[in-house]
Amino acid sequence: TSAVVETDVLVVGSGPAGSAAALALSTLGVATTVITKYRWTANTPRAHITNQRAMEIFRDLGIEQDVLADATPHHLVGDTVFCTSIAGEEIGRIHTWGTSPQREADYQLASPCLTVDIPQNYLEPILVRHAAERGAQVRFSTEYLSHTQDADGVDVQVRDRITGATYTIRAKYLIGADGARSKVAADLDLPFEGAMDIAGSMNITFKADIAAFCDHRPSVLYWVIQPGSNVGAGLVRMVRPWDEWLIVWGYDIAGEPPVVDEAEAVRIVRNLLGMPDLEVEITGTSLWGNNEMYATHLQRGRVFCAGDAIHRHPPSNGLGSNTSVQDAYNLAWKIAYVLQGHAGPALLETYSAERAPVAERIVKRANRSSREFVDLFAALGVLEAETEEEMLAAIEERKANTPEGLAKREALVKAMELKNYEFNAHGVELGQFYDSTAVLSDGTPRPEPTRDPDLYYEASTVPGSHLPHAWVGDQVRKQAMMDLAPYTDLTVIAGIAGEAWEAAVETLAAETGLPLRCVVIGPGREVTDLYYDWSKLREVEESGALLVRPDKHVAWRSRTLPEDPVGALRDALTHVLSRG
Ligand code: FDA
Repeated sequence: TSAVVETDVLVVGSGPAGSAAALALSTLGVATTVITKYRWTANTPRAHITNQRAMEIFRDLGIEQDVLADATPHHLVGDTVFCTSIAGEEIGRIHTWGTSPQREADYQLASPCLTVDIPQNYLEPILVRHAAERGAQVRFSTEYLSHTQDADGVDVQVRDRITGATYTIRAKYLIGADGARSKVAADLDLPFEGAMDIAGSMNITFKADIAAFCDHRPSVLYWVIQPGSNVGAGLVRMVRPWDEWLIVWGYDIAGEPPVVDEAEAVRIVRNLLGMPDLEVEITGTSLWGNNEMYATHLQRGRVFCAGDAIHRHPPSNGLGSNTSVQDAYNLAWKIAYVLQGHAGPALLETYSAERAPVAERIVKRANRSSREFVDLFAALGVLEAETEEEMLAAIEERKANTPEGLAKREALVKAMELKNYEFNAHGVELGQFYDSTAVLSDGTPRPEPTRDPDLYYEASTVPGSHLPHAWVGDQVRKQAMMDLAPYTDLTVIAGIAGEAWEAAVETLAAETGLPLRCVVIGPGREVTDLYYDWSKLREVEESGALLVRPDKHVAWRSRTLPEDPVGALRDALTHVLSRG
């Protein structure tokens, strides 16, 4: 009851947000302790779609190969099917997660990584293991109870769930990554918009080999339009190709929670698969609520929240775990820089300024995508159907050589097109732009989108944007632009006419002790613009420079080489890092 454990950062939760925060912080040499309520990481597959931004973070933190080794690869994730059951009639398919020939180029041009599928119960152990290897203390079966903060730190009361003992952990900073029912967020009294538990979902995990129905249309998601679910559709989701699955089935949250025993689970599985005699091994069931809620401010003093604690939404668009990992990546380097004396504490305030708009955007997008399924049901004419027979008849009508059949087919084309906003929303996935004091404008406004900003990501180096992707290197190495700017450092990227930046960086690194580095791109230099792509993407003259933050956002840029590059860069660093 009286023991005090000391740490620099205490992370509550070992989900994607907490374990990524612990990994990022320990990579930066920050003493980190993670506590988590249960005896191990996620015990069900949960989130799985792992988008390019999250994969880039894993690449940066040195765990990309581990993640790929446990993931279902990109080429198997994208033939999303809509059907009346897995063995039943197919209504249509949509190429998802950038796998259509039309979109694949957008995705490949934007990032060195592609979307893969790794269930959360495979991902979390990778993150936790590497965090622990790099020095994080991980305490399972340990529950956050409450906290108090003062000018120098936070006292956190926790309970050891094995012995029942309570004790205090004293930390300089606290991160509440404790999920959608976050106690840390509640204790901080963070302001929220929206509502919780707007719909009920049931997960059923099971094993059954149905490769014959998937090999030729490989996908993560098979949507089954059948009566009985409150959302009108069930989801058959691949966990492992093609013998391990998760079904998501809706229930009416206003009524009593359904009892899903083995027999009921088998019945639901067989129905959605359309295989009445299939041998099924049920491995688990759980109920969860769908939410539409986001925090409008993410921190108070020395305490921050990340992940589902600040954004709560349905799985549509696959943004939950991805955004949680990105929150952690945004926050960890800021805490590290403040602890290491590289930045002033005001840098920490930029976490909320930068990530709260992202939280709002993804919560709204995911919920809108979920609602837009209605368009598909409306196109099929199943919304009015009251019995299974009526529903099947409505679906059947799309085959008819009648004006009604024709209208239905035309409506289906449009409804399927709309699902790109859920499954190919590249702009939502990649288009994070930060507007805060950790970015210094060069006077150029944020570029106006030339295409739909939800569907299309547009690269730019306007400060606040993510560093554009291009392949660079030499005859023995092929590197992504992001590889030039490691998470530990602040990186200045220049061209040969801007070689003088090198000396400026050297002077300032010596003067400030900042982890500042310079990369000159050009023939005969550290890396070459192999495909001549970077010259077209950098938006500054060859003599100009970009200052890239550890999280790969452009902090500042100079269009050309100024008369006093040391002075210009010093001013930028002072501003961006809130150095007094
Ligand atoms: P997450 O909820 O993963 O982790 C919270 C952590 O905090 C846990 O480690 C927990 O032990 C810990 N914790 C909580 N309270 C604590 C306390 N008082 N003390 C100590 N530790 C505490 N998303 C998706 O995209 N597709 C999907 O199919 C699903 N399916 C799904 C099913 C179920 C059952 C759930 C619960 C969630 C999903 N999700 C999902 C959502 C997805 O799982 C979610 O977006 C991410 O896990 C969010 O990651 P976080 O790290 O923020 O929270």
